[in-house]
Amino acid sequence: MREILVTSALPYANGYIHLGHLVEYIQTDIWVRAMKAQGHQVTYVCADDAHGTAIMLKAEANGVTPEEQIASVKASHEADFAKFLIEFDNYHSTHSEENKQFSELIYRRLNNAGHISTKDVEQLFDPEKQLFLADRFVKGECPECASPDQYGDNCEVCGTTYDATELKNPYSTLSDATPVLKTSKHYFFDLPEFEQFLKDWTRSDERLQVSVANKLQEWFEAGLTSWDISRDAPYFGFQIPDTPSDEPDKYFYVWLDAPVGYMASFKNLCDKREGSDQALDFDRYWAQENEHKTEVYHFIGKDIVYFHALFWPAMLAGSEFRTPTGVFAHGFLMVNGEKMSKSRGTFIKAETYAEHLHPEYLRYYFASKLSDKVEDINLDLEDFMQKVNSDLVGKVVNIASRSAGFIVKKYDGMLSEVCAEPELLEDITKTGDEIAAAYENREFSRAMRLIMQCADKANEYIDGKKPWSLAKQEGTEQEVQDVCSVAINIFRQLMVYLAPVLPELTANAKTFLNIEDLSFASRNGWLLGHKINKFKPLMQRIEEKDIEAMVEDSKASLAQADAPAVTENNKPAAKDKSPAIDANTDAEQTDYIGIEDFAKVEMKVAKVLECNHVEGADKLLQFTLDVGEEKPRNVFSGIRKFYEPEQLTGKKVICVTNLAPRKMKFGISEGMILSSGDPKTQLTVVTLPDNCVIGDVLA
Ligand code: 2FM
Ligand code: ZN
Repeated sequence: MREILVTSALPYANGYIHLGHLVEYIQTDIWVRAMKAQGHQVTYVCADDAHGTAIMLKAEANGVTPEEQIASVKASHEADFAKFLIEFDNYHSTHSEENKQFSELIYRRLNNAGHISTKDVEQLFDPEKQLFLADRFVKGECPECASPDQYGDNCEVCGTTYDATELKNPYSTLSDATPVLKTSKHYFFDLPEFEQFLKDWTRSDERLQVSVANKLQEWFEAGLTSWDISRDAPYFGFQIPDTPSDEPDKYFYVWLDAPVGYMASFKNLCDKREGSDQALDFDRYWAQENEHKTEVYHFIGKDIVYFHALFWPAMLAGSEFRTPTGVFAHGFLMVNGEKMSKSRGTFIKAETYAEHLHPEYLRYYFASKLSDKVEDINLDLEDFMQKVNSDLVGKVVNIASRSAGFIVKKYDGMLSEVCAEPELLEDITKTGDEIAAAYENREFSRAMRLIMQCADKANEYIDGKKPWSLAKQEGTEQEVQDVCSVAINIFRQLMVYLAPVLPELTANAKTFLNIEDLSFASRNGWLLGHKINKFKPLMQRIEEKDIEAMVEDSKASLAQADAPAVTENNKPAAKDKSPAIDANTDAEQTDYIGIEDFAKVEMKVAKVLECNHVEGADKLLQFTLDVGEEKPRNVFSGIRKFYEPEQLTGKKVICVTNLAPRKMKFGISEGMILSSGDPKTQLTVVTLPDNCVIGDVLA
C-alpha cells in the first residue's frame, strides 16, 4: 500500500468557484478516489488562499473585516465543492496558526542558510489609499504604442511587457489618484542559488509533464532572478519575523505562504486525527529524510507552474523539507470552443450549474476529456448533453434497467448460481487492469473509452440474447435468468470502474446490487446466487431546456455580480512572469522537428465504419471513421487507385485527428489516414491489429 498526499491549488478567498476551477478539483478528486479504490492510503487536502491586497480590498468594499470576508467565502467554497462531490480529507485556510508557524519556520531556515537578502525597490504608491500598487491596480498609456488604459505589466494591444513605472500618465485603479514613486525595503528569496538543484529536480523521476519540463528549460535559459517575497503594510497576511524593530513591518507576499498552506492543512488534519485509527504522521510526509517513503502530488493549472515547479521546491529544499513527488498541470476550460464569457452566459458559477444540472454529468464529461497532457479542454454544451445521455443513460444505466426487472419479478431478485458467459466477464474483469492503469496515469479519457467499450459489449450481448423475447417462450426460465445475471454482473463491474467519477450514482447502484464494496479488487468476485434489490432509475437524461436555463441564469447572475478572483496575486510580479505552458507555440523553421513538435500530432486508432467511392473523383475514397468520439469523422484519402472500398471496411487504421479540417469539393475532410509508400506507384494503408482500442492515442 502506497501512502500518498494529494493537493489541488488553493482557491482565493475573494471569489466564487466556477466551472473553470472545477476542472482541477474534479480531476484531483477522481484521481484520489481511483487510487483509494486501488487500495492505497490517500489523503487529499486543500484550503482557501486567504491573504493578499485583493482580499483586503474586497473586505473593505464589503464593509467587513478580512477575517469575516474569508470565513464567509470559505463556507461558500466548501458548499460548492460538496455539491460536486469533491471529497477533501481536510479543507483549511492559509490564514491559520499552522500556516503562520510553517511559513515562519521555512523563512527562518532560508534566512539562516543565507538565502534571503534585502534590496530597496522603487514602486508606484497610491497617495490616497496609502498603499503600494501591484501591477493589476495601476493603469496608464503603454510606453510602446501609447494605447490608453493598459495594466502595469503588459499591453493588451501591442503585447509589450514593461514595469508599471514605465507607464505614461499612470493612475491608480483603486482611487484614480496619480501614483507617486516611493522606495521601500523588500526581502528577496535567492532563487538563482537553486538553479542546479532545480535543473536536476525538474529533469528527474518524471516529476513533471514533458511540456512543463521543456517550458522550465526555457526559463532556465532566460535566467532565474531573485523573488520578491515581501509586501508593505497595509497588507492582509503574516508579518515577516525578525525584521529590525526600528523599521516598518513587512508581510509575506501571498504566494510565499500559499503553498505552505498545503502543509498547514495536512498538519491540521494530523492534529485532528491524532490518537484515532486514521492517525497520520506529519513528518512521515514532509521530513526530508522520508522523501522516498511517501508520495506528495500537487494538481495545478498551467498558469501557476512557475510557483510550483521552481519557487516551491526551492523553498522546501532550502528549508530542509521534502519536495513533491510530482506536479501535474492541466489546461484551461473553454466553453463552446471559446474562452468563458459572461455575456454569452458561459461563465458559469458552480452554484448556478448545480441549480440546473446534476454535478455528476459534469464529472463524467470532464473525465471523458481529461488526459495527462497540459491541454485546454472544451465543454461543448451540445456534445455534453449528447455524451452524457448516450453513454451514461443510454449505455450504462440501460444495462441494469433492462435486466433487473426480470430478475426481481421472476426470480425473486436471485441471480443465477453459475455464470453463463465466463469469458465475457473475464474479458471485462481484465479490462479493469487497463482502466486502473489509465486512472493512475491520469488518462481519464482513455479510462472512459475503455469503460464504454465494456458497456457496448454488454449491450451487444443483451441485444443478441433478447431476454424480453426469450421470456415469452416456454422452457427458457434458466436462460433468461442467466442472460440477465450476466448483464447485472457486467453492470456491477462498470459500477466499480465508474465509482471514482460517479460516486453518488455508484453508491445508489450499490444498494440496488446489494453489495458492500466498489474497490477495484472487488470486481474479481462475481455475483452468483446473490440477491439484488428492486431497481430504481439511477440517472435522468439531460434536457436541452436545463442547459438553456443554466446559460440564461449565468447571464443574469453575472450581470450584477462582481468579477471572480482576478487580482494582483493571480499573476507573479513583473519580474516573476510565468508564461503559460502551451503546446502550440514556438514551431521551429528547420528541417528537423523537436519531440515537442512531433508530440503535437495526434494520431488515434480508428475503425473504418464505411468506405465509399466518391462520384467525380477518380483518386479519392471517402471514409467514415470511428475515432472514439461522439460523432464519426468524414475523411477523404487519395488511395482510390490502390484499394476497393470493401478491402478497408471494418479495418483499424491510424488517423491524424488534430489536422485542421480541409474543405474539399466533395465535402470536409476531418483527418488523414496514414499510408506508406509512393502516391504515384503504390500506397499501403497502415492497418492495426484488431485488439487496438478505438480512440487510443498512438504514442
Ligand atoms: O492561482 C490561484 O488561484 C492561487 N490561489 C493558487 C494557490 S495554490 C497554492 F500554492 F497555494
Ligand atoms: Zn502597447
